Amino acid sequence: MSLKDRIASKQAHVAVVGLGYVGLPLAVRIAEVGLRTYGIDINGPRVARINDGISDIGDVDSADLAPLVSAGLLSAHTDFSVIAQADAVIICVPTPLGKTKDPDISFIVKATEAVSPHIKQGQLFVLESTTYPGFTTEVLAPMLEQESGLTAGVDFHVAFSPERIDPGNEKYGVRNTTKIVGAMTEAGGEAVQALYNAFIDTVMIVSSPNAAEMVKLLENTFRAVNIGLVNELAVMCNKLGLNTWEVIDAAATKPFGFMPFYPGPGLGGHCIPIDPLYLSWKLRSLNYQARFIELADNINTGMPAYVVRLVQDALNDVCKATKGARLLVLGVAYKNDIDDYRESPAIDIIDLLKGKGAKVDFYDPYVPSYIEEGVAHHGIPDLAELESYDAVVLTTHHKVFDYAEVVRRAQLVVDTRNATRGLTEGREKITLL
Ligand SMILES: NC(=O)c1ccc[n+]([C@@H]2O[C@H](COP(=O)([O-])OP(=O)(O)OC[C@H]3O[C@@H](n4cnc5c(N)ncnc54)[C@H](O)[C@@H]3O)[C@@H](O)[C@H]2O)c1
Repeated sequence: MSLKDRIASKQAHVAVVGLGYVGLPLAVRIAEVGLRTYGIDINGPRVARINDGISDIGDVDSADLAPLVSAGLLSAHTDFSVIAQADAVIICVPTPLGKTKDPDISFIVKATEAVSPHIKQGQLFVLESTTYPGFTTEVLAPMLEQESGLTAGVDFHVAFSPERIDPGNEKYGVRNTTKIVGAMTEAGGEAVQALYNAFIDTVMIVSSPNAAEMVKLLENTFRAVNIGLVNELAVMCNKLGLNTWEVIDAAATKPFGFMPFYPGPGLGGHCIPIDPLYLSWKLRSLNYQARFIELADNINTGMPAYVVRLVQDALNDVCKATKGARLLVLGVAYKNDIDDYRESPAIDIIDLLKGKGAKVDFYDPYVPSYIEEGVAHHGIPDLAELESYDAVVLTTHHKVFDYAEVVRRAQLVVDTRNATRGLTEGREKITLL
């Protein structure tokens, strides 16, 4: 029976490798449509929790996960041998940057090495982890071939399909975000389209895995560059004595030819600060400098230091030094209403302020503590002593914060998110990015 027929009759089995922010919502969605799903992860405790019906990923409710586990539709494993029972294998492991900002593909390499001994004729392999153009055909497919002794595109299919999840987005999730797919062969394209059509509303096939890889990098480079532009706009507006947010909101009333982006304390998360650098790295190997990407990275990574200067200036205006000041950073998650602090600029700001001799506490109901280079940092449990801080730095625009209350009780507020928009009382205490 073909994969298409096996999917149509709900007999296809799917393995998802990597059960994080991307893999777990995907595995749940596949199981929800009735396909037997094996989740595979090297994180034993996470695997055990999933098998107990408990999700530690914000976008997946345990109430949705548990019935799928009980019904035997979804199971989690640390043992890769279940790959042999799957018709399709989707890889969603991390693709971070190394210390020198070069792509760190070690997670994909390790996952592929573990998958390869279990490859079967006729299987479909899809990489969803973000990577540079050429990776799927030039690195992943040969690795799968080498270990298995089979031929990609002949004995098994290989495709790339960028993950486009937006954690915390209540409108767009796995099902209703169009899926882009590029396969090595036409038959592979048909197989992967059939697979994704089973659980995603719209699937679009592009001509190759390289094109699909580039689609993802365009999307994230578009965001990184536009955020870089408005971050520089914020610096320029500050010099000109203008309110950046007022300028952007006014420009956004134009019904065509303008799309608003907003400044902030710097980029965070596992995508926007990282993915464009996969592209610029690849282009460097072709002797080409991706100038927009590098300029945007330069501006965006400079934002935490810029925020620190705003804090220093605000303290200076009330005759206080940063050294010895007691400061409270409000929000450690890299974006609002989620618990992900990867690459969060708030952590850079905390470190920079500490480096200037300030005593820095943080409070984030979503991130009560964080680990940086193996060291755990614990936040304060509540805002009972808000008045005692020399300044409060608003770094994450969580909805749960009562901004009017914060401004009322704080001595000074540096607002990097325009979270105090709409407040009229206490504006003299607020420095806006
Ligand atoms: N988080 C996002 O918003 C987002 C959005 C779009 C694309 N992506 C991309 O998706 C990919 C995955 O990101 P994520 O946010 O889900 O990462 P994550 O860190 O949340 O999850 C990755 C999971 O993979 C597991 N893992 C690591 N090595 C493994 C191995 N060798 N075998 C099996 N499992 C392994 C980890 O234990 C973890 O559970 C990345 O390439 C990322 O760029 C992420």
